[in-house]
Amino acid sequence: MSTLLHIDSSPLGEASISRHLTSEFVQNWKAANPNGKVITRDLNASNLAPIDAAWIGAVYTPEEARTAAQNNRIALSDTLIAELFAADEFVLGVPMHNFGVPSVLKLWIDQVARVNKTFSYATGAPVGLLQHKTAHVFVASGGVYDAGTTMASYNFVEPYLRTVFGFLGVTDISFLNAGGASALTYGKIDRQSFLQPHIESIRSQFQPA
Ligand SMILES: Cc1cc2nc3c(=O)[nH]c(=O)nc-3n(C[C@H](O)[C@H](O)[C@H](O)COP(=O)(O)O)c2cc1C
Repeated sequence: MSTLLHIDSSPLGEASISRHLTSEFVQNWKAANPNGKVITRDLNASNLAPIDAAWIGAVYTPEEARTAAQNNRIALSDTLIAELFAADEFVLGVPMHNFGVPSVLKLWIDQVARVNKTFSYATGAPVGLLQHKTAHVFVASGGVYDAGTTMASYNFVEPYLRTVFGFLGVTDISFLNAGGASALTYGKIDRQSFLQPHIESIRSQFQPA
């Protein structure tokens, strides 16, 4: 049985482009995996806090020496990491905010990037411990950052996520960029026309070759 971890990070709920695209992916994935399991993680409803000294102290205390308070302090991190290990595939909805990932996604990354849990330096070189997993990332942005455009170098979402996921062992990662969403804001295109090519691109991934 396959398991998909569905992560959203847009604060815009129903109005969100990236949430619409992850939802489309999940529907298609469920149809293709009738016995599969979907774990849903909404980062805007997960009470993610910035890591602090108590959190860092807890994760660098050997497990057998941790106090109950320390275990409690990193319980959410443990849960989020368990979700990553439970899944074979990840689908992430990511709005570009100020050329990077939204703050809740950065908070999540800080919770799941943990030494000897999701990466290791045991051999001297870094080794990602999330092996044999696939990530699909749907990025929505107001502007267009495609390769070759004048704005391409402003896109810190894709290189950052490739680096972080690769560091954790997830090198099989693909990006679908829904760029130019500002045309919606300015009424230059209707929502359905904007979404349609991206929806078709997602559906085509599930069609038999
Ligand atoms: C706080 C904030 C910051 C944004 N920063 C950028 C940006 O740096 N570049 C860009 O192209 N669009 C930016 N946008 C536009 C969003 O990327 C765009 O509205 C996109 O559709 C957001 O994804 P969502 O609809 O899934 O929330 C920003 C929007 C907000 C609300």
